[in-house]
Amino acid sequence: MFNKKKLTLSVLIVLGIIFLSSCYYDNEEYLYGNAPCDVSAVTYSVTVSNILATNCYSCHSTATGNASGGGIVFDNYAKLKPYATNGQLVGSITHAGGYSPMPKGATKLSSCDIQKIQAWVSAGAPEN
Ligand code: HEC
Repeated sequence: MFNKKKLTLSVLIVLGIIFLSSCYYDNEEYLYGNAPCDVSAVTYSVTVSNILATNCYSCHSTATGNASGGGIVFDNYAKLKPYATNGQLVGSITHAGGYSPMPKGATKLSSCDIQKIQAWVSAGAPEN
């Protein structure tokens, strides 16, 4: 026959497990540190050019390039494309060996910004 106390106890245990496991999944970002980086909607015209404008055009624009960017200018698509294709853009922002680490004299870009630029380059650096 049913024992009311045992039944109540098992219901509580089941509810407890559901409660605890929902907490576990809800806190994925907290548990793994970094919020997920969405690279699904990366475009040159919005994503890439904004990251570069914030972090790079102070030295690498048409206005400043010769003075502070070592003659390297990429403030429009046509000028950026060769650096995307030859590996220098990704090499410099990931601080890979053999490339000059960028942004020069400043902290590395956030890992999400780096992932976005890498995603755009891997997609063939389209003018989108
Ligand atoms: C404070 C000025 C400054 C800033 C900001 C800066 N750069 Fe540079 N960058 C330079 C100079 C100067 C050079 C020439 C090479 C050198 O001196 O290291 C250079 C070289 C480069 C090169 C050629 C790398 C190589 O290995 O020859 C790339 C690509 C580049 N920069 C990308 C960037 C990107 C992308 C950013 C932004 C995330 C950035 N730079 C920000 C000054 C800057």
